[in-house]
This record gives sequence, C-alpha cells and structure tokens, in this order.
Amino acid sequence: MSDQQAQKQAAAKAALNYIEEGMILGVGTGSTVNCLIELLPEIKIAGAVASSQVTEEKLRALNIDIVDLNFAGTLDIYIDGADEVNAQLQLIKGGGGALTREKIVAAASNKFICMVDASKSVDILGREFPVPIEVLPQARSYVARQLVQMGAEPVYREGFVTDYGNVILDTYDLDVSNPIAVEQVLNNIVGVVCNGVFAANQADVLLKAGNNGVETLMR
Ligand code: 5RP
Repeated sequence: MSDQQAQKQAAAKAALNYIEEGMILGVGTGSTVNCLIELLPEIKIAGAVASSQVTEEKLRALNIDIVDLNFAGTLDIYIDGADEVNAQLQLIKGGGGALTREKIVAAASNKFICMVDASKSVDILGREFPVPIEVLPQARSYVARQLVQMGAEPVYREGFVTDYGNVILDTYDLDVSNPIAVEQVLNNIVGVVCNGVFAANQADVLLKAGNNGVETLMR
C-alpha cells in the first residue's frame, strides 16, 4: 500500500471518533471518504445524507439508509476530503466533481470535518490544483471567457456531467490569495452554479494524516 493510501485510511479512522450512534451523518465524496465508508458499519448510525450519487450507492450497498437533506434538518457533522487545504482550513474541493452537493451538505451541517493526507496541505490555494467550477451547460463559453479575463485558464472537463446535469471548468492560474473574495466573485458570474473554493464556510476540524500519525487542527 502507498504512503498516501495509508494516510487516507488513518485520517478516516480518526474521523470515526466524531461519529455517534444514532446520528444522521453527512458523507462526502472521494477516495478518502471511501476509506471512511468502509469503516461505517462499526457504528450504528441512523442514516446518511450523501454528497453524490457515487457515495449514495456505496452507502446503500452497506445497507445504510439514505436520508434526503430536505428532511434531515441541520446535520451534526459532515465528513469529507479535499483537494487542497491552507492554514485557515479553507479548501479547494471538486476534484471528483461533486462540489455543489458537497457545499450544500457542508453548509447544512454544524461541523465540517475534513480528512486529508499530507499531500493536500498548501500555503496558497489554487497554485497547483485547478479550481473546479460547476457551470450550466449553456453558459460554458461565456463563463470561460469571464475567467480568462480574470487571468485564469479554464479547461472544460470533457466527458464529465455532474449529478445535476452540468459541466465543470477546471480553472488553472486563478488568483486564490484571498479565498473568501474569489469565492464570491466566482459565485457572481452568471451561469456559475457553484465553485470549488470552500472559504466562507471552511472546515471546522482538519484531520491531517502524515507518516507519523494524524494531526488534529481546529478552526
Ligand atoms: C470530490 C472532492 C473530494 O473530496 C476531493 O477530490 C478529494 O478526493 P480524494 O479523497 O479522492 O483525494 O471534493 O468532489
């Protein structure tokens, strides 16, 4: 097993400590979350709100009840991974294309617990990992032109359609030095459904796994 995979598993195991029997859990998407899902049968949760179709299917396969967020009220916790995280626990997410549903479930939760391996920690967001932006299909070119005007380089994620039937522009060279401001600017472009900067509503707890164990950082 690679170091990275071992770290994902360690972070997932640490996240298990936050889950209580009988709770309705918000569950993210991605390979780190998949490690958590494998461990979920250890705790008898009442159900889960899934952040993607893929996660939903994995949870159903374990006979975990899927709860519609509209009927779940405010969730105690949402657990997910990230593509990048900075020292303020602000994130880039959406590598798996589930950013919109992830942002909704995170916003509807009291606590966002983020699990990362060591490779995800950065000083400044967006220097290496492109910011995924979910866009209505008809607005793809228009939004791309707005991003180019901002000095960024959007790349259409070909062959990928989100759970909501939209497309993704993976956006390189975007200036994310002020994450809260850029998140807002992106939200204001007509045709943008959601962007992968999680700054206004960042993680509350970061479980950062390295080769020497899992470090817990709080906001
Ligand atoms: C999916 C996400 C994931 O959390 C992010 O891509 C991290 O994935 P992984 O755990 O596979 O590294 O935002 O949309």
